[in-house]
Amino acid sequence: MDAINDIGGPAQPLLTVRGLQKHFPLKKDPLGRGGGVVRAVDGVDFEVLKGETLGVVGESGCGKSTTARLLMQLIAPTAGEVIFDGRAVGGRDLPLKEFRRRVQMVFQDSYASLNPRLTIEDSVAFGPQVHGVARNEAVHRARDLLARVGLEPQRFAERYPHELSGGQRQRVNIARALALQPRMVILDEAVSALDKSVEAQVINLLLDLKAEFGLTYLFISHDLNVVRYMSDRVMVMYLGQVAEIGSSNALYEAPAHPYTRALLSSMPSMDPDHRTEEAALAGDPPNPINPPSGCRFHPRCALAAPVCSQRVPARVVAGAQQAVSCLIHEPGSGHPMARALAQAA
Ligand SMILES: Nc1ncnc2c1ncn2[C@@H]1O[C@H](COP(=O)(O)OP(=O)(O)O)[C@@H](O)[C@H]1O
Ligand code: SF4
Ligand SMILES: [Mg+2]
Repeated sequence: MDAINDIGGPAQPLLTVRGLQKHFPLKKDPLGRGGGVVRAVDGVDFEVLKGETLGVVGESGCGKSTTARLLMQLIAPTAGEVIFDGRAVGGRDLPLKEFRRRVQMVFQDSYASLNPRLTIEDSVAFGPQVHGVARNEAVHRARDLLARVGLEPQRFAERYPHELSGGQRQRVNIARALALQPRMVILDEAVSALDKSVEAQVINLLLDLKAEFGLTYLFISHDLNVVRYMSDRVMVMYLGQVAEIGSSNALYEAPAHPYTRALLSSMPSMDPDHRTEEAALAGDPPNPINPPSGCRFHPRCALAAPVCSQRVPARVVAGAQQAVSCLIHEPGSGHPMARALAQAA
């Protein structure tokens, strides 16, 4: 396998996402009522920098997997664009087939991702063959990768998925993703189904592979502790939008968005000194078919003011390393805790 992919400057984006939207249409009932759309992803902008891990967190249903599937072009966006290394995905400069080789994905369900009738060696060798690598070379590469992810080829190459544990199957899925020598891997709850001890091993394997192959990760998980351990920066999603994005340290030490703060305070803390007084999150996010007006978090926000149901927050810079969409941080927004515009300069 290639050595390190070119990593460029420290702050070069590998992936740029602008105005990404996915509205799933709802079926009408027989009388023609209903219809409407599920606003699963509703105007999302972010960058993934070369060589970094961008973590993505948020409660279930907030659009993390839909974002991943949009990035992988598994579903078509309602609006928005995805740019990979300076080239529009699916455009003349970067056809989908080429993009799909460069960006790979690992899902939560280790079993569903593997063909039960292929040995794991054949599973890993399959992708490269589709992309024109000769069978001998593809099998050779598969065996190297199986060894690299901790599955000794002598023992494992000829086995079938049902003969492996969940952790071993996820190692196969990781090897399979790497077989095409991608530059970026999207991990959607890839370790979430594993037992804690196995999870820790697979996380450390992912970190080793990232360093060895110069990979860039988008790491999606509902587990905030795991995301902090893995990520350089973190993006917090709420109801199909980005609430806050910033460096992992800044975000965990000084969360700026009330939703981030509530998420963190509902997380089981490793360190009792760091427990906050803040109210943890109550209830579930509202339905993305009819999201709340103004700031979507307002019905659950402890700091909501009347303006919060009327005005959509813009994304503003908060601190040195964070951007946040909350009216408290927007000078002149009319939220009583926001600075007045005159003071803002
Ligand atoms: N194919 C689909 N059709 C209709 N609604 C969908 C579809 N896929 C996802 N959704 C809805 O979109 C929202 C976001 O889902 P998802 O991206 O899976 O969230 P997450 O991964 O953060 O849990 C949810 O309300 C979910 O029910
Ligand atoms: S804009 Fe208002 S409701 Fe939304 S997070 Fe900020 S304070 Fe809470
Ligand atoms: Mg999901």
